[in-house]
Amino acid sequence: MVDRVYPKIYLPDQLCVKGAVDDVYFVGADNRKYLDLLSGGGAFFLWRYGDKNVKRILSSHFISTSNFLQHKSKGLLASELSQLTGFPLVYFLCSGSEAIDAAIKMAYKYHGGKRKKVGKVRGSYHGRTGLSVRCGPEGYSSYLPDGKDFITIESASILGGDFAAVIIEGCCPQEILKAYDDEALRWIVVKCIEHDIVLIADEVRSGLGRTGYILSSETWSNGLDFSQKKPDIVVIGKSLCAGFPLSAVLMREKFYDCIDKDWHSSTAGGHPMLCELSRYLLSSLGGECLTEIAGKSWRMGKELDTVFPDIEYTQFGLWWNLFVDDAFDVSKKLRIEGVLVYCTSDDSITLFPSMHFTMTHWTEFLAALNEAI
Ligand SMILES: Cc1ncc(COP(=O)(O)O)c(C=O)c1O
Repeated sequence: MVDRVYPKIYLPDQLCVKGAVDDVYFVGADNRKYLDLLSGGGAFFLWRYGDKNVKRILSSHFISTSNFLQHKSKGLLASELSQLTGFPLVYFLCSGSEAIDAAIKMAYKYHGGKRKKVGKVRGSYHGRTGLSVRCGPEGYSSYLPDGKDFITIESASILGGDFAAVIIEGCCPQEILKAYDDEALRWIVVKCIEHDIVLIADEVRSGLGRTGYILSSETWSNGLDFSQKKPDIVVIGKSLCAGFPLSAVLMREKFYDCIDKDWHSSTAGGHPMLCELSRYLLSSLGGECLTEIAGKSWRMGKELDTVFPDIEYTQFGLWWNLFVDDAFDVSKKLRIEGVLVYCTSDDSITLFPSMHFTMTHWTEFLAALNEAI
Protein backbone atom coordinates (compact mmCIF):
# COMPACT_ATOMS: atom_id res chain seq x y z
CA MET A 1 0.00 0.00 0.00
CA VAL A 2 2.69 2.46 1.01
CA ASP A 3 4.75 1.56 -2.04
CA ARG A 4 1.80 2.03 -4.36
CA VAL A 5 0.68 5.40 -3.03
CA TYR A 6 3.47 7.38 -1.44
CA PRO A 7 6.09 7.48 -4.16
CA LYS A 8 3.59 9.20 -6.43
CA ILE A 9 2.95 11.98 -3.98
CA TYR A 10 6.09 12.38 -1.91
CA LEU A 11 9.77 12.09 -2.72
CA PRO A 12 10.64 8.41 -3.28
CA ASP A 13 13.52 8.60 -0.84
CA GLN A 14 11.46 10.22 1.89
CA LEU A 15 12.63 9.45 5.35
CA CYS A 16 10.61 7.29 7.77
CA VAL A 17 10.88 8.15 11.44
CA LYS A 18 11.56 5.14 13.60
CA GLY A 19 11.87 6.65 17.04
CA ALA A 20 12.77 9.53 19.30
CA VAL A 21 16.21 10.35 20.60
CA ASP A 22 15.67 13.53 22.59
CA ASP A 23 14.28 17.04 22.05
CA VAL A 24 15.25 17.65 18.45
CA TYR A 25 16.90 14.46 17.18
CA PHE A 26 15.14 11.36 15.91
CA VAL A 27 16.20 7.99 14.54
CA GLY A 28 15.22 7.27 10.95
CA ALA A 29 14.25 3.91 9.51
CA ASP A 30 17.82 3.78 8.21
CA ASN A 31 18.91 3.68 11.90
CA ARG A 32 20.72 7.01 11.61
CA LYS A 33 20.31 9.90 13.98
CA TYR A 34 18.96 13.11 12.43
CA LEU A 35 18.94 16.70 13.62
CA ASP A 36 15.45 17.87 12.67
CA LEU A 37 15.39 21.43 11.33
CA LEU A 38 12.42 20.66 9.10
CA SER A 39 10.11 20.02 12.03
CA GLY A 40 7.18 18.85 9.95
CA GLY A 41 7.08 22.10 7.96
CA GLY A 42 6.92 24.02 11.21
CA ALA A 43 4.55 21.76 13.13
CA PHE A 44 6.91 20.54 15.84
CA PHE A 45 7.84 23.88 17.29
CA LEU A 46 6.68 23.09 20.82
CA TRP A 47 7.43 19.38 20.54
CA ARG A 48 10.17 17.26 22.07
CA TYR A 49 10.64 13.95 20.30
CA GLY A 50 11.54 12.17 23.54
CA ASP A 51 8.87 13.69 25.81
CA LYS A 52 7.57 10.99 28.16
CA ASN A 53 4.58 13.08 29.33
CA VAL A 54 2.83 12.94 25.99
CA LYS A 55 1.81 9.26 26.25
CA ARG A 56 0.43 9.86 29.73
CA ILE A 57 -1.63 12.86 28.58
CA LEU A 58 -3.00 11.08 25.53
CA SER A 59 -3.86 7.88 27.39
CA SER A 60 -5.62 9.68 30.25
CA HIS A 61 -7.96 11.36 27.72
CA PHE A 62 -8.29 8.36 25.43
CA ILE A 63 -12.00 8.47 24.64
CA SER A 64 -13.97 8.62 21.45
CA THR A 65 -16.10 11.71 21.14
CA SER A 66 -17.39 14.19 18.61
CA ASN A 67 -18.82 17.67 18.57
CA PHE A 68 -22.25 16.28 19.41
CA LEU A 69 -20.89 16.16 22.96
CA GLN A 70 -18.98 18.89 24.75
CA HIS A 71 -16.04 18.33 27.08
CA LYS A 72 -14.07 20.32 29.59
CA SER A 73 -10.69 20.08 27.80
CA LYS A 74 -11.98 22.01 24.83
CA GLY A 75 -13.36 24.82 27.00
CA LEU A 76 -10.11 25.01 28.96
CA LEU A 77 -7.95 25.17 25.84
CA ALA A 78 -10.27 27.78 24.31
CA SER A 79 -10.01 30.06 27.32
CA GLU A 80 -6.24 29.59 27.58
CA LEU A 81 -5.81 30.42 23.89
CA SER A 82 -8.06 33.39 24.34
CA GLN A 83 -5.87 34.66 27.18
CA LEU A 84 -2.69 34.00 25.24
CA THR A 85 -3.79 35.77 22.06
CA GLY A 86 -6.42 38.29 23.17
CA PHE A 87 -9.08 36.87 20.82
CA PRO A 88 -12.37 36.19 22.64
CA LEU A 89 -13.84 33.61 20.23
CA VAL A 90 -12.09 30.31 19.54
CA TYR A 91 -13.41 27.59 17.25
CA PHE A 92 -11.58 24.25 16.83
CA LEU A 93 -11.16 22.29 13.63
CA CYS A 94 -8.89 19.55 12.31
CA SER A 95 -6.49 21.09 9.80
CA GLY A 96 -5.05 24.42 8.75
CA SER A 97 -6.81 24.32 5.39
CA GLU A 98 -10.17 23.61 6.98
CA ALA A 99 -9.72 26.53 9.35
CA ILE A 100 -8.79 28.83 6.44
CA ASP A 101 -12.05 27.81 4.72
CA ALA A 102 -13.99 28.59 7.87
CA ALA A 103 -12.31 31.99 8.25
CA ILE A 104 -13.11 33.04 4.68
CA LYS A 105 -16.70 31.81 4.99
CA MET A 106 -16.98 33.85 8.18
CA ALA A 107 -15.88 37.00 6.33
CA TYR A 108 -18.55 36.36 3.69
CA LYS A 109 -21.18 35.74 6.32
CA TYR A 110 -20.17 38.88 8.22
CA HIS A 111 -20.87 40.92 5.10
CA GLY A 112 -24.12 39.03 4.45
CA GLY A 113 -22.74 37.68 1.15
CA LYS A 114 -22.96 41.22 -0.28
CA ARG A 115 -19.23 41.67 -0.83
CA LYS A 116 -17.69 39.30 -3.29
CA LYS A 117 -13.94 39.81 -3.42
CA VAL A 118 -11.24 38.19 -1.33
CA GLY A 119 -7.77 39.68 -1.54
CA LYS A 120 -4.73 37.44 -1.39
CA VAL A 121 -1.02 38.03 -1.50
CA ARG A 122 1.15 36.74 -4.32
CA GLY A 123 3.23 33.70 -3.40
CA SER A 124 1.23 32.73 -0.30
CA TYR A 125 0.16 29.22 0.60
CA HIS A 126 -3.03 28.63 2.57
CA GLY A 127 -3.89 24.94 2.02
CA ARG A 128 -5.84 22.89 -0.51
CA THR A 129 -9.46 22.35 0.56
CA GLY A 130 -12.67 24.19 -0.35
CA LEU A 131 -14.97 22.05 -2.45
CA SER A 132 -17.01 19.70 -0.22
CA VAL A 133 -19.38 22.45 0.89
CA ARG A 134 -20.53 22.97 -2.66
CA CYS A 135 -21.89 19.41 -2.76
CA GLY A 136 -23.98 19.88 0.39
CA PRO A 137 -27.19 21.63 1.42
CA GLU A 138 -27.96 25.02 -0.19
CA GLY A 139 -27.74 26.89 3.11
CA TYR A 140 -24.16 25.78 3.66
CA SER A 141 -22.97 27.27 0.41
CA SER A 142 -25.05 30.44 0.36
CA TYR A 143 -22.11 32.52 1.59
CA LEU A 144 -19.24 31.43 -0.58
CA PRO A 145 -16.81 33.17 -2.90
CA ASP A 146 -16.22 31.85 -6.42
CA GLY A 147 -12.77 31.13 -7.75
CA LYS A 148 -12.82 34.38 -9.75
CA ASP A 149 -13.48 36.40 -6.58
CA PHE A 150 -9.96 35.70 -5.27
CA ILE A 151 -7.81 38.60 -6.35
CA THR A 152 -4.07 38.96 -5.95
CA ILE A 153 -3.35 42.33 -4.39
CA GLU A 154 -0.56 43.97 -6.31
CA SER A 155 -1.20 47.27 -4.58
CA ALA A 156 -3.29 48.28 -1.56
CA SER A 157 -5.03 50.90 -3.70
CA ILE A 158 -7.32 48.26 -5.25
CA LEU A 159 -8.91 47.50 -1.89
CA GLY A 160 -12.35 49.02 -1.39
CA GLY A 161 -15.88 48.37 -0.13
CA ASP A 162 -16.39 45.44 -2.51
CA PHE A 163 -13.83 43.28 -0.67
CA ALA A 164 -15.14 40.89 2.00
CA ALA A 165 -11.72 39.79 3.22
CA VAL A 166 -8.01 39.95 2.78
CA ILE A 167 -5.90 36.98 3.78
CA ILE A 168 -2.22 37.31 4.58
CA GLU A 169 0.28 34.87 6.05
CA GLY A 170 1.22 36.03 9.54
CA CYS A 171 4.85 36.11 8.64
CA CYS A 172 5.68 36.46 5.01
CA PRO A 173 7.81 33.68 3.64
CA GLN A 174 10.65 34.32 1.28
CA GLU A 175 8.77 34.48 -2.01
CA ILE A 176 6.40 37.09 -0.60
CA LEU A 177 9.10 39.28 0.81
CA LYS A 178 10.46 39.60 -2.68
CA ALA A 179 7.14 40.98 -3.89
CA TYR A 180 5.99 43.12 -0.96
CA ASP A 181 7.84 45.26 1.51
CA ASP A 182 6.71 46.09 5.03
CA GLU A 183 5.25 49.37 3.93
CA ALA A 184 3.02 47.71 1.32
CA LEU A 185 1.70 45.28 3.91
CA ARG A 186 0.96 48.11 6.31
CA TRP A 187 -1.10 49.91 3.68
CA ILE A 188 -3.12 46.77 3.06
CA VAL A 189 -3.89 46.76 6.78
CA VAL A 190 -4.87 50.45 6.74
CA LYS A 191 -7.23 49.87 3.80
CA CYS A 192 -8.85 46.94 5.59
CA ILE A 193 -9.65 49.14 8.56
CA GLU A 194 -10.91 51.97 6.36
CA HIS A 195 -13.33 49.74 4.41
CA ASP A 196 -14.25 47.25 7.15
CA ILE A 197 -12.62 44.44 5.17
CA VAL A 198 -12.17 41.34 7.33
CA LEU A 199 -8.43 40.95 7.78
CA ILE A 200 -7.47 37.30 8.15
CA ALA A 201 -4.00 36.37 9.36
CA ASP A 202 -2.95 32.88 8.40
CA GLU A 203 -0.67 31.95 11.29
CA VAL A 204 -0.77 28.22 10.61
CA ARG A 205 3.01 28.19 10.22
CA SER A 206 4.03 31.38 11.96
CA GLY A 207 1.80 31.33 15.05
CA LEU A 208 2.48 30.37 18.65
CA GLY A 209 6.03 31.52 19.22
CA ARG A 210 7.94 30.51 16.11
CA THR A 211 8.75 34.11 15.13
CA GLY A 212 9.43 35.29 18.68
CA TYR A 213 5.82 36.52 19.05
CA ILE A 214 2.76 34.58 20.13
CA LEU A 215 1.24 35.76 16.84
CA SER A 216 3.54 37.33 14.31
CA SER A 217 0.65 39.49 13.02
CA GLU A 218 1.04 41.45 16.27
CA THR A 219 3.78 43.32 14.45
CA TRP A 220 1.62 44.44 11.54
CA SER A 221 0.72 47.74 13.17
CA ASN A 222 4.32 48.79 13.82
CA GLY A 223 4.70 52.46 13.12
CA LEU A 224 0.99 53.09 12.69
CA ASP A 225 -1.05 55.14 15.05
CA PHE A 226 -3.97 52.86 15.87
CA SER A 227 -4.23 50.47 18.74
CA GLN A 228 -7.10 48.42 17.43
CA LYS A 229 -5.25 47.27 14.35
CA LYS A 230 -4.53 43.57 14.64
CA PRO A 231 -6.31 41.10 12.36
CA ASP A 232 -10.01 40.38 12.76
CA ILE A 233 -9.51 36.65 12.43
CA VAL A 234 -6.41 34.54 13.01
CA VAL A 235 -6.01 30.94 11.91
CA ILE A 236 -3.61 28.66 13.80
CA GLY A 237 -2.71 25.00 13.31
CA LYS A 238 0.50 22.99 12.98
CA SER A 239 2.33 23.70 16.25
CA LEU A 240 -0.98 24.11 18.11
CA CYS A 241 -0.82 20.35 18.58
CA ALA A 242 2.59 19.41 17.15
CA GLY A 243 1.21 18.02 13.91
CA PHE A 244 -1.73 16.16 15.47
CA PRO A 245 -4.95 17.18 13.72
CA LEU A 246 -6.00 20.29 15.60
CA SER A 247 -6.43 23.82 14.28
CA ALA A 248 -8.36 26.86 15.45
CA VAL A 249 -10.01 30.01 14.18
CA LEU A 250 -9.57 32.92 16.59
CA MET A 251 -12.09 35.70 16.11
CA ARG A 252 -13.07 39.08 17.44
CA GLU A 253 -16.33 39.52 19.35
CA LYS A 254 -18.08 41.10 16.34
CA PHE A 255 -18.35 37.68 14.66
CA TYR A 256 -20.29 36.09 17.51
CA ASP A 257 -23.70 36.53 15.88
CA CYS A 258 -22.46 34.99 12.61
CA ILE A 259 -21.63 31.67 14.26
CA ASP A 260 -24.35 29.14 13.45
CA LYS A 261 -24.71 25.75 11.80
CA ASP A 262 -24.67 27.27 8.31
CA TRP A 263 -21.20 28.63 8.92
CA HIS A 264 -19.07 25.60 9.68
CA SER A 265 -18.83 22.38 11.66
CA SER A 266 -16.19 19.71 12.09
CA THR A 267 -17.12 16.33 13.58
CA ALA A 268 -13.84 15.76 15.40
CA GLY A 269 -12.57 19.34 15.70
CA GLY A 270 -11.14 19.89 19.18
CA HIS A 271 -10.89 16.29 20.34
CA PRO A 272 -10.26 16.14 24.14
CA MET A 273 -7.07 14.13 23.75
CA LEU A 274 -5.61 16.71 21.40
CA CYS A 275 -6.90 19.66 23.43
CA GLU A 276 -5.10 18.30 26.48
CA LEU A 277 -1.91 17.71 24.51
CA SER A 278 -2.18 21.22 23.11
CA ARG A 279 -2.63 22.68 26.60
CA TYR A 280 0.50 20.89 27.71
CA LEU A 281 2.51 22.04 24.69
CA LEU A 282 1.32 25.64 24.99
CA SER A 283 2.32 25.74 28.65
CA SER A 284 5.95 25.83 27.49
CA LEU A 285 5.26 29.20 25.83
CA GLY A 286 4.99 30.93 29.18
CA GLY A 287 7.51 33.01 31.15
CA GLU A 288 10.59 34.28 29.41
CA CYS A 289 10.37 31.94 26.47
CA LEU A 290 9.68 34.55 23.78
CA THR A 291 12.63 36.65 24.95
CA GLU A 292 14.72 33.50 24.90
CA ILE A 293 13.69 32.75 21.32
CA ALA A 294 14.57 36.29 20.23
CA GLY A 295 17.94 36.06 22.00
CA LYS A 296 18.70 32.68 20.49
CA SER A 297 17.83 33.93 17.03
CA TRP A 298 20.15 36.91 17.49
CA ARG A 299 23.04 34.68 18.63
CA MET A 300 22.45 32.36 15.68
CA GLY A 301 22.77 35.32 13.34
CA LYS A 302 26.04 36.40 14.97
CA GLU A 303 27.55 32.94 14.63
CA LEU A 304 26.37 32.55 11.04
CA ASP A 305 27.87 35.94 10.13
CA THR A 306 31.18 34.82 11.58
CA VAL A 307 31.34 31.38 10.00
CA PHE A 308 29.72 32.22 6.64
CA PRO A 309 30.03 35.98 6.11
CA ASP A 310 28.87 35.61 2.48
CA ILE A 311 25.63 33.78 3.12
CA GLU A 312 22.57 36.02 3.02
CA TYR A 313 19.56 35.12 5.09
CA THR A 314 16.29 36.28 6.60
CA GLN A 315 15.29 35.40 10.13
CA PHE A 316 12.01 35.64 12.01
CA GLY A 317 12.75 34.16 15.43
CA LEU A 318 13.27 30.46 14.75
CA TRP A 319 12.18 30.64 11.11
CA TRP A 320 15.20 31.06 8.87
CA ASN A 321 15.76 31.28 5.12
CA LEU A 322 19.34 30.84 3.96
CA PHE A 323 20.20 31.77 0.38
CA VAL A 324 22.53 29.25 -1.17
CA ASP A 325 23.24 28.17 -4.74
CA ASP A 326 21.79 24.79 -5.76
CA ALA A 327 19.63 24.70 -2.64
CA PHE A 328 18.14 21.31 -3.45
CA ASP A 329 21.57 19.79 -3.77
CA VAL A 330 22.66 21.41 -0.51
CA SER A 331 19.59 20.06 1.29
CA LYS A 332 20.37 16.56 0.00
CA LYS A 333 23.97 16.81 1.16
CA LEU A 334 22.84 18.09 4.55
CA ARG A 335 20.71 15.03 4.90
CA ILE A 336 23.74 12.85 4.23
CA GLU A 337 25.35 14.79 7.07
CA GLY A 338 22.37 13.89 9.28
CA VAL A 339 20.52 17.25 9.19
CA LEU A 340 17.01 17.73 7.82
CA VAL A 341 16.10 21.11 6.31
CA TYR A 342 13.35 22.33 4.03
CA CYS A 343 14.27 23.23 0.45
CA THR A 344 11.85 26.02 -0.48
CA SER A 345 13.26 27.19 -3.81
CA ASP A 346 16.27 26.80 -6.11
CA ASP A 347 18.18 29.33 -4.08
CA SER A 348 16.96 28.99 -0.49
CA ILE A 349 16.71 26.48 2.29
CA THR A 350 14.34 27.05 5.18
CA LEU A 351 14.96 26.05 8.77
CA PHE A 352 12.06 25.53 11.17
CA PRO A 353 13.83 24.34 14.33
CA SER A 354 11.88 23.46 17.45
CA MET A 355 11.98 25.91 20.36
CA HIS A 356 14.13 23.36 22.22
CA PHE A 357 16.86 23.84 19.65
CA THR A 358 20.07 25.17 21.23
CA MET A 359 23.23 26.91 20.13
CA THR A 360 25.02 23.55 20.29
CA HIS A 361 22.62 22.31 17.59
CA TRP A 362 23.31 25.45 15.58
CA THR A 363 27.06 24.83 15.71
CA GLU A 364 26.42 21.27 14.55
CA PHE A 365 24.26 22.57 11.69
CA LEU A 366 26.92 25.06 10.60
CA ALA A 367 29.54 22.29 10.54
CA ALA A 368 27.22 20.17 8.37
CA LEU A 369 26.56 23.16 6.11
CA ASN A 370 30.26 23.63 5.67
CA GLU A 371 30.45 20.07 4.28
CA ALA A 372 27.36 20.56 2.12
CA ILE A 373 28.22 23.74 0.20
C1 LIG B 1 0.54 29.15 5.98
C2 LIG B 1 -0.23 27.87 5.83
N1 LIG B 1 -1.58 27.92 5.80
C3 LIG B 1 -2.34 26.82 5.69
C4 LIG B 1 -1.74 25.58 5.59
C5 LIG B 1 -2.59 24.35 5.45
O1 LIG B 1 -2.55 23.61 6.63
P1 LIG B 1 -2.88 22.05 6.61
O2 LIG B 1 -1.79 21.37 5.82
O3 LIG B 1 -2.92 21.65 8.06
O4 LIG B 1 -4.22 21.89 5.96
C6 LIG B 1 -0.36 25.47 5.62
C7 LIG B 1 0.31 24.17 5.51
O5 LIG B 1 1.48 24.04 5.22
C8 LIG B 1 0.43 26.65 5.75
O6 LIG B 1 1.78 26.62 5.79
